[in-house]
Amino acid sequence: MRQAGRYMAEYRAIRKQYTLLEICKQPELATEVTLQPVERLEVDAAILFSDLLLPLEPMGIPFDFIKGEGPVIHKPIRNNADIKALRTFESRESLGHVLKTITILNQELKDRVPLIGFAGAPFTLASYAIEGGPSKSYEKTKALMYTEPSAWHRLAQFLAQSISDYLVAQIEAGVQAVQLFDSWIGALSPSDYTEFALPYSQHILQTVSDAGVPALHFGTGTSTLLGVMSKAGGDVLGVDWRLPLDEAWTRIGPNHAIQGNLDPTLLLGPIERLQAGAKDVLDRAAGRPGHIFNLGHGILPTTPVESVQELARFVHHYR
Ligand code: CP3
Repeated sequence: MRQAGRYMAEYRAIRKQYTLLEICKQPELATEVTLQPVERLEVDAAILFSDLLLPLEPMGIPFDFIKGEGPVIHKPIRNNADIKALRTFESRESLGHVLKTITILNQELKDRVPLIGFAGAPFTLASYAIEGGPSKSYEKTKALMYTEPSAWHRLAQFLAQSISDYLVAQIEAGVQAVQLFDSWIGALSPSDYTEFALPYSQHILQTVSDAGVPALHFGTGTSTLLGVMSKAGGDVLGVDWRLPLDEAWTRIGPNHAIQGNLDPTLLLGPIERLQAGAKDVLDRAAGRPGHIFNLGHGILPTTPVESVQELARFVHHYR
């Protein structure tokens, strides 16, 4: 969850010299940034430094990160013609730099912690491609779904295929698990999820399972979606903090492990409250096998690194 984000001074130091995309595209820099949290925090896995939007570029959807605004897609997709014009691409060529980073990291992380690769799920990726950037209502995305369902299904199918190929390439390059981020899926109702998102996430998660590594599936605002999301497959479902962990697990069912679910803003408060929050998550997991302690979403830039260190220490020593 944005382990290597702006809350770390060593990350900010590198960002003074390079843009986010430059870091993503230069394997030596991406390797260095991936390793920063592993050096500083008692974490049990490293997450590849990259960004979920990178596959958009080789599809023919160029974008940039603009300070203060987040991602900006230069020419958003708006209709069936735009969708038909999308390019299939070979990850091993167009995203070869990501795969190179994985190869270097495999050497660096040997005998330390496993490496998690990742990609965006079709709904979340499509929402950026269609809205042109971040959104609160996802109105353009949902308008396309409802008014031109066949165009939506064409786009989602295309994204599912591209993302499946990209994740297989990451697995072949050496990641030991993958996480599928459907960060903004909470915008959909359960029935819309089933109709417009489920088949595509299912396809990706099945491809990852067939490739032989564990798959983690994550979204936010998913309290009412956990039951249908668990039908998408995968081994682990990630949950945010909006439901207590035990209740979320009941909704997910016994066939999935669970990842979560501390509110990341607790890292901004006093240590005692942070520890109480972590204790609550762990007590609700109650030692059942299949709980991965994590935050419910990304670490905010204003978070003191000491709080993150203390949290990792607390979790490891809690009995
Ligand atoms: O722990 C890590 O840092 C792993 C690397 C990682 C990044 N992005 C680097 C990054 C991961 C796993 C992502 C995934 C990602 N990218 C998601 C899904 C995760 C989530 O938060 O739900 C999403 C939605 C994106 C798209 C994206 N990238 C947005 C919306 C932004 C802007 C955020 C903002 O507040 O301005 C980014 C930029 C980005 N990607 C940063 C990092 C560390 C921010 C730091 C920077 O600008 O230097």
